[in-house]
Amino acid sequence: MCNDLLMKDEQTKIQNMAATTFSVIPLAKHGGIIEFIEGVTPYYDTLDTIMQLKQNEWSGKLSKWKDEMSKLKSRESRAEYFREVACKQTPIVMSKWFRIQYPEAGKWFASRKQFAKSAAVMSIIGYIFGLGDRHTKNLMIHLQTGKCIHVDFDMIFNKGETLGTPELVPFRLTQNMINGMGEVALDGEFRTVCEQTLRVFRENSYEIEKYISDLPNLVADFASNKMAPKDFDMTEAKRLVSGRIRGQIMTVKLHKSKAITYPMQVSQLTSSLIDLATSDEKLCEMFPGWMPTL
Ligand SMILES: Nc1ncnc2c1ncn2[C@@H]1O[C@H](COP(=O)(O)OP(=O)(O)OP(=O)(O)O)[C@@H](O)[C@H]1O
Ligand SMILES: [Mg+2]
Repeated sequence: MCNDLLMKDEQTKIQNMAATTFSVIPLAKHGGIIEFIEGVTPYYDTLDTIMQLKQNEWSGKLSKWKDEMSKLKSRESRAEYFREVACKQTPIVMSKWFRIQYPEAGKWFASRKQFAKSAAVMSIIGYIFGLGDRHTKNLMIHLQTGKCIHVDFDMIFNKGETLGTPELVPFRLTQNMINGMGEVALDGEFRTVCEQTLRVFRENSYEIEKYISDLPNLVADFASNKMAPKDFDMTEAKRLVSGRIRGQIMTVKLHKSKAITYPMQVSQLTSSLIDLATSDEKLCEMFPGWMPTL
């Protein structure tokens, strides 16, 4: 549905802005068939080909950073530790991966652009529908094109915010993701595509709202899922999606405390989302396995 809307709009159609999809056929309550996307590799593995992380060494570092941060009382000091120690001790290699993978200049340029564009489209789709769990193995990289493709859509409708360690960022925009697109993408390709995607969704808010209002079964499915938030309410989830389309950063927690942000223009909303996604204060509180420094 999101791709249909993007392909109906002249500007997003010309730029061929669309998320890569795959078919899923549910066969029973706990089983089904998923179409396997060919020629992709997990984002983590692309970094690992350069970093050659030794699993033990790496998990040792992750738990050391977590322990050190848990000793710090204020969020500011945890953010500072995250920025000055954890981020600085993590190799930043994604741009190197692009250089090695695409040695020919034209292909290199095009693939980085594709990476930024596809990451932006999926970031906004994920944000609108409250998609969490964007850890390093739920983002895949298409080896031919550099496209960023998302899999694993279980943590939808802001379920991630109700986990033991709640998710606090709207999408994955970590230092290696930014390095892959090139710093300039945050003021160029990535930002523009985020804005365009948000604009199209806002102009078609009725269609999106109608689509989600036709999803009644999800309530029952969620209720029987042990990972479901205890008081999950589909009506509430729909209201949150509507608010986000209209330009409010609405999350389960903010909404409950009634501290709703005022509706923002598309460019202002994009800036706020990028700020949130790159905030050290938010990233330092994420689950270590999400690997916020990668
Ligand atoms: N449609 C797909 N095409 C290609 N590879 C896929 C696809 N779906 C999943 N994968 C691969 O399989 C792995 C596991 O799938 P998935 O993330 O859906 O399972 P999971 O058990 O929910 O994982 P986790 O809870 O650890 O995130 C993914 O990390 C990805 O590498
Ligand atoms: Mg997964």
